[in-house]
Amino acid sequence: QEPSARDSVPQAGEASLRLLRRIGAVDPESLDDYRAHGGYLALRRALEIGPAEVVRQVSEAKLTGRGGAAFPTGRKWEATAGQPAQPHYLVCNADESEPGTFKDRVVMEGDPFAVIEAMTIAGFATGCSRGYLYIRGEYPRAVRRLRNAIEQARERGLLGRSILGREEFDFDVEIRRGAGAYICGEETAIFNSIEGYRGEPRSKPPFPVEQGLFGKPTVVNNVETLINVPLILTGGGAEYARTGTADSTGTRLFCLSGNVRRPGVYEVPFGTTLRQLLDLAGGVEQDRQLRAVLLGGAAGGFVGPDQIDLPLSLEAVREAGTTLGSGVVLVFDDTADLPALLLRIAAFFRDESCGQCVPCRVGTVRQEEALQRLVRNRGDGADDLALLREVGRAMRDSSICGLGQTAWNAVESAVDRLGAFTARSPGTGGPAHVDD
Ligand code: NAI
Ligand code: SF4
Repeated sequence: QEPSARDSVPQAGEASLRLLRRIGAVDPESLDDYRAHGGYLALRRALEIGPAEVVRQVSEAKLTGRGGAAFPTGRKWEATAGQPAQPHYLVCNADESEPGTFKDRVVMEGDPFAVIEAMTIAGFATGCSRGYLYIRGEYPRAVRRLRNAIEQARERGLLGRSILGREEFDFDVEIRRGAGAYICGEETAIFNSIEGYRGEPRSKPPFPVEQGLFGKPTVVNNVETLINVPLILTGGGAEYARTGTADSTGTRLFCLSGNVRRPGVYEVPFGTTLRQLLDLAGGVEQDRQLRAVLLGGAAGGFVGPDQIDLPLSLEAVREAGTTLGSGVVLVFDDTADLPALLLRIAAFFRDESCGQCVPCRVGTVRQEEALQRLVRNRGDGADDLALLREVGRAMRDSSICGLGQTAWNAVESAVDRLGAFTARSPGTGGPAHVDD
């Protein structure tokens, strides 16, 4: 069904809406309406203060990456800007593929000009004249709206040569669509994909800030990371850092799904507790008991009901041995069949491994096999749990990229924190909902 131009999305925490403030209020197909809602003031500000000051403000804001790894954005920008090799490239990572993640889609569909403005500012700050927006192929509406935004921005001198009359500032954006591979969201696999090779990750270091796309210095930022930048410039980095906690500044977009009453994208300040977030979404469906929450998606980890008061900040989740990842909050009630779910996650990683390195190519298969045996209650469960740990450690320590390094996270947390293979867990030993 074709949506109207002004879509509204489920959201809450109205008082703290900053990144989502225009969504549902602005016409995503009109540059004039975007400007009427404050659009392009931040780019003007950036041009006034100059690239070095933009980077300083982003560092002062303590902005961290929202794609999953939470690397300091200011450090990345400073490192790219300082590279003597030319040209520099910007890549906006919009290949949002983590199971349970859909925040970037909401932003790109509802406020596409903000993404293009933010990319232009990032390009200005880091000395790039070309930006690539690498987007997953399954987001056709977002692609359409972003293309429209790029064309309108070009027509009005907001992309292309001498942006806003600044002779020395040329910047343009090209959209590249992924073709369905999860691994193509890994930043170096994106480079290969854009360059026309198989989407396989490269070894790091060298980091993209030194040698990235076409071997040149490249800054890669997630969509949500970028749309924080206009806010930082219009309000100032220090002011931005007043929201959230000391080490996790600003607000965060969380994707709530599973057994919650009102699934959707929610924007809350870092430090909001898991309980408060679930309350915003109306709590567990049908007033059932909470069994588990998967934080950070398949690459993240499970927490149990005893961690419901966990503050959602980088430092608190690190202390609790988990991650916020890309903002996934997948809720399971007490009817959840955890072993079957773990098998589904293991099958996902086995499918999506690019096969380039042995620990991941073989490890993801062995992990799935051991889980299948555990679920069917065949063989010695203790042996299979020990094997899972050994394989998981090998994948974490010796895989080339994040896929192999995190393929055991969810299983490990379910075994250790939730007792996924104890009698308490529904489905243990029963028929598994999986393909053989
Ligand atoms: P990473 O820790 O290797 O790197 C994070 C970023 O910091 C990268 O851009 C990297 O180039 C940069 N970086 C790291 N050290 C650096 C240094 N010394 N100098 C300069 N730059 C440096 O993590 P990675 O593999 O890029 O991302 C892993 C995360 O991605 C996971 O936490 C996972 O949650 C998330 N993820 C998100 C998905 C999504 O759909 N949003 C899908 C799959 C994974
Ligand atoms: Fe490919 Fe997995 Fe190795 Fe990453 S860890 S390079 S996905 S085989």
